[in-house]
Amino acid sequence: MSIVEEFTRVYGRAPEVVGSAPGRINVIGEHIDYNEGWVLPYAIGYRTSVAIARRTDASINLESMQRAGKRVHASAAGLAPDASRGWAEYVLGTLVSLGALGGFDVLVDGNVPAGAGLSSSAALECATASAINLLLDLGRTPAELALVAQKAENEFVGMPCGIMDQAVSMMSTRGHALLIDCKTLETEHIPINLADAGLALLVIDTQAHHSLVDGGYAARRASCEEVCAILGVPSLREVTLEQIEARRGDLTETQFVRARHAVTEIERVHAAVAAMRAGEWNTLGELISASHASLRDDYAVSCPELDLAVVASMAVGALGARMVGGGFGGSAIALTHTGLIPAIESAVRDAFAASGFKAPRFFIATPEDGATAKLVG
Ligand code: GLA
Repeated sequence: MSIVEEFTRVYGRAPEVVGSAPGRINVIGEHIDYNEGWVLPYAIGYRTSVAIARRTDASINLESMQRAGKRVHASAAGLAPDASRGWAEYVLGTLVSLGALGGFDVLVDGNVPAGAGLSSSAALECATASAINLLLDLGRTPAELALVAQKAENEFVGMPCGIMDQAVSMMSTRGHALLIDCKTLETEHIPINLADAGLALLVIDTQAHHSLVDGGYAARRASCEEVCAILGVPSLREVTLEQIEARRGDLTETQFVRARHAVTEIERVHAAVAAMRAGEWNTLGELISASHASLRDDYAVSCPELDLAVVASMAVGALGARMVGGGFGGSAIALTHTGLIPAIESAVRDAFAASGFKAPRFFIATPEDGATAKLVG
C-alpha cells in the first residue's frame, strides 16, 4: 500500500504533503565533517518517506508502516526530548528545530536499514524537514534544512553528529558523489560513473549494530577539539600533518593519533576527487583502503566484523574497502569489478560464518537523488 493510502486508512483523511529523503554511503572522508574538512558521500536508493497533515489541536500523532499500530503521541505544547519515543524523536526534533509547533498527524515509511551506518536517522529528519518546509511554505534552502535536521539530532536526540549525513541526504544528485565543504557547506557534484568502468560499490552490512548516542563518537570528537585548543586553531581543517608532528610532545598519544587521522583523511579526500575525475580507479581503491587503516588504527572506530569484511573483500581482489559512517559496527563498502561481486559476497559470508558473526547483507549502492517533497491532492 502506498504511504498516501495507508495514511488515509490510519487517520481517516488524506495527508497534505509527502517528503522523502535517502540514506547514504560515504566514498571517503570519515569523521571529518565535525573537523570542518571535506567529505565525499552519495545518497543511495534506500529512502524514508514522511506523510503529514496538519491538525487543529496541539496533538502530534506518529505512526510507522514498519511498526504498524504502534502509535506514538506527543503534544506540541512544551515538547521536550523523551528517548522512550524511539524513532519518533527524529521527527519531533525536526519539528522543534524548524519551529513548526502545531498539531500534526504523521506516517513514516522507510527502507533504510536502521543501525547499519547508512544514516536512516538523517533520512527521517530530512524527509520531515522537506515536507514541513513545503507544507508551511517556510522557504528554507536545502543547506538550511540540512542544518535544521542536524540541530534536531544534536539538541533533541542528543547525538553530536556533524553535517555530512543531513547535507548529502538533502543535496545529492543521481550519478554524482557530493563533495561537501563542511565549514562553508559549499558543495560540488562530482560525476561518478562506476558502471562504465565495469565497477560497482558493494555495501556489506555487517549486522553488527551500533548506537552512536553511546560515548565513542563524542569521545572522538572531544579529542579533536582538545587538539585544536592546544594548537590554537579553530578546527583540524587548518592543520597539516607536519604541524601535528612538530607539536607531538604537547599532545597525548591518543590526541596525536586522532588528529593524524583527521588531517590525513582530509588529504585523502582531495586525492580521491582527483582520482575520480581522472578515472584512476586503482588509486581511488588504494585511498579507500588507506582510509580504513587510519580509521582502524588511529581513530579506533572499527570493529572485528568491519575489519573482517574489509580483509575478506580485499583477499578476493576488491580495489579498495573500508568501513563507512560513525563506525563501531554498521556497514563497509568495497570498490570492485562487478564480476567479482559474487566471489566477494561468498568470501565475506564464509569468513563471517567461520568467526561466528551474524550473516552479513549485501547490496550495490548507486548514487541517487536527495530529498524531495510534494503536496498531495
Ligand atoms: C556519523 C555522523 C556524521 C559523521 C560520520 C563519520 O554518520 O552522523 O556526522 O561524523 O558519523 O564520518
